Amino acid sequence: MIAVSFLKSKYERGETLQKIMASDADLIHVDLLDGIYAGENNLQIDELVKELANTEKKLDIHLMVKEPLEYIKQLINLNIWAITFHLDATSNPKEIIEYVKSHNIKVGIAINPDEDIHILDKYFDLIHYVLIMSVYPGKGGQEFIPDVLEKIPYLYDKNVLIGIDGGINNNTIKYLDGYQVDNIVSGSFICMSDDFNKQINLLK
Ligand code: DX5
Ligand code: ZN
Repeated sequence: MIAVSFLKSKYERGETLQKIMASDADLIHVDLLDGIYAGENNLQIDELVKELANTEKKLDIHLMVKEPLEYIKQLINLNIWAITFHLDATSNPKEIIEYVKSHNIKVGIAINPDEDIHILDKYFDLIHYVLIMSVYPGKGGQEFIPDVLEKIPYLYDKNVLIGIDGGINNNTIKYLDGYQVDNIVSGSFICMSDDFNKQINLLK
């Protein structure tokens, strides 16, 4: 699958979303930043909920915020494929996992480039998805970090879906050759272009 992040776009958010919805993207990747855990705060949750209500494409929600549960509660009725959070951003990961699962939504944990994959060992039985970060959380348009790829094979027998997020374009995607990845997140390569489908199909 290709999930398109609209964090960095040359179009306004509404227009960007429309273009993604009209494209061959499989999922809409929603990056939420609180300015504390990472990046610049973009948590206009009410607005976002309105903009994302009734999307035909499913949402791939990526929370880069401290204590994400309160935000998750506000988003939970959207058309969601998975909700992914960072372990180092929360004191109650199991509560988040249970809450998301109780709504029949997949739950994922994201791993930053400098985090050891083994911090997931006690969660593999509880989660559906692991998002390998190939940039540090914070903004779109950063450079892909190839070293993170070595974490991927460790996940093959863990019964989780695997995603990768950050810095993916038609050149860096070649690094993924030979790796099994279920969900590829790409943002600026698509949303800074004139033709979303052309870029998405280059990745595919
Ligand atoms: C980084 C975000 C990524 C990012 C992807 O903080 O989690 O999803 O927006 O965008 P590109 O593809 O531009 O790195
Ligand atoms: Zn993301």
